[in-house]
Amino acid sequence: RALGPAPPRRPDFKKLDAEDVAFFRSVLSSDSSVITTIPSPDGSWATASADDLVSYNVDWMDKYHGNSPILLKPKTTDEVSKIIAYCYKQRIAVVPQGGNTGLVGGGVPLYDELILNTEGLNQIREFDDVSGILTVDAGCILENLSNYLAPKGYMMPLDLGAKGSCHIGGNVSTNAGGLRLLRYGSLHGTVLGIEAVLPDEKGTVLSINMPGDGKAGALRKDNTGYDLKQLFVGAEGTLGVVTGVSIMTPRLPSAINVAVLSVPDFESVQTVFKETRAHLGEILSAFEFFDQEGLELVLHHTGAKSPFESEPEGGRAFYVLIETSGSNKDHDDEKLGGLLESLLENGIIADGTLAQDETQVQSLWALRESLPEAAGKMGKVYKYDISLPLPTMYSVVEEARERFATKGLIEDGSIKTVVGYGHIGDGNLHINIVAKQWDEKVESAIEPWVYEATAKRNGSISAEHGLGLMKANSVHYSKSDAAIQVMQQLRRLFDPRGILNPAKYLPPTEQLPGEG
Ligand code: FAD
Ligand code: MLT
Ligand code: ZN
Repeated sequence: RALGPAPPRRPDFKKLDAEDVAFFRSVLSSDSSVITTIPSPDGSWATASADDLVSYNVDWMDKYHGNSPILLKPKTTDEVSKIIAYCYKQRIAVVPQGGNTGLVGGGVPLYDELILNTEGLNQIREFDDVSGILTVDAGCILENLSNYLAPKGYMMPLDLGAKGSCHIGGNVSTNAGGLRLLRYGSLHGTVLGIEAVLPDEKGTVLSINMPGDGKAGALRKDNTGYDLKQLFVGAEGTLGVVTGVSIMTPRLPSAINVAVLSVPDFESVQTVFKETRAHLGEILSAFEFFDQEGLELVLHHTGAKSPFESEPEGGRAFYVLIETSGSNKDHDDEKLGGLLESLLENGIIADGTLAQDETQVQSLWALRESLPEAAGKMGKVYKYDISLPLPTMYSVVEEARERFATKGLIEDGSIKTVVGYGHIGDGNLHINIVAKQWDEKVESAIEPWVYEATAKRNGSISAEHGLGLMKANSVHYSKSDAAIQVMQQLRRLFDPRGILNPAKYLPPTEQLPGEG
């Protein structure tokens, strides 16, 4: 269970029973699409054990634990529509779930909500190799889509450490940012069409700018009315279940370079960023950073070797990873070479390493990408994901360390380390506070302080991970009352009975959702 007081289960939600299982089995094409711990009254279905459902009831961080007795894996949009229409009529609470890699407790039940997982919706619908527009089922795994596109000379416009598990529907629903946002922009720009099932009496299928529905479809430009698809980008399963996605994919670059540089302080990180943009222009595709604690954590837990020849002066440094992607290797090498020369000549960087081949590209990226996993190996990780103006960004990490030291939480071992890393190019800092165990004392030292510290600097308390259960009641740190109210009204319009992801995303309205 997530720490802190959990909002109570809504008493009007139906408790799932054998009749519900029988209904779901009657509408899903395959018996293996219904997995349940509810016993069959007549022995007509196999009963799963609670263990079979654990990986769907518990999140990636092992922080949020639900107790759903039913997991559904529909294979078609029509099946999703029938499930959702039934849940609407029966007032069954539903958690839409993709790859369950979310980091804010949004994709797992809080109590006994039905889990509607999209892994059965895994078909590629069409790809246009002139426009690069790809249309797929929501449950396609991000990495599978990249692998599908690569031989065709295209790539997905987003990339993240969870690529091997996360679904494109989950990416869209969280508006995932990741490692390529700097170059290809957010999903608000690259997603062209959405198909979603609405939580109403019919399980209405809303198809917006998708090919094949007889209306305008998979077009780059479409100014006919409100841009409804944008509402689903980042809605975290509160407005409908996303079943299909149409997305713009960029050309796969033929030349990639990666360098990891060591700089003495955070001010130098900013200088390097400025210089990098000036020198590299359009070929810059990623600019990531991690601190000394981050590097040490990764080296310790992955067994990788430090890419640097010498220890940093004073034992501490900051590290930046720069990636270039282009279509002309000589041109890119020359530009990157010019940048590194200038940084060295001006004494801005202390040390650095440049990948010489594809294997080294991967191993340099691993220093950054394996950070979340390495932190998870060390202990229980309190994760914060904030957007801040660059000059004040790292001061939050420093203030956190001072605060925890003053409270004695470092000395007594409650907190093992505090790591700062993130997508500098996007103004996005991740703070990982690794604790010995989930601990109310630790959590109360962090929250609401970390949100207050972010708000004080005019930052956002969620840059890319979303709100989920974790931040449903903290959104006011970043949004006005008026904005929150409009969001609540919008949610009610789409989901009048409040059956989708109850208690998550926004604070509860005064009027109980579910009165519709
Ligand atoms: P889930 O975790 O299953 O669900 C996430 C939310 O979306 C939930 O609220 C769920 O209800 C909803 N949802 C899922 N599918 C649907 C659907 N079809 N329709 C409606 N609602 C749906 N995030 C970043 O932004 N950038 C990163 O760089 C990044 N790196 C990560 C690295 C690691 C190692 C991990 C574990 C996570 C990372 N994340 C990152 C978190 C990120 O949010 C997810 O990885 C991803 O976008 C979620 O996809 P998912 O399919 O796992 O969704
Ligand atoms: C990342 O950038 O690595 C992710 O957003 C995941 C995380 O912060 O844990
Ligand atoms: Zn991130």
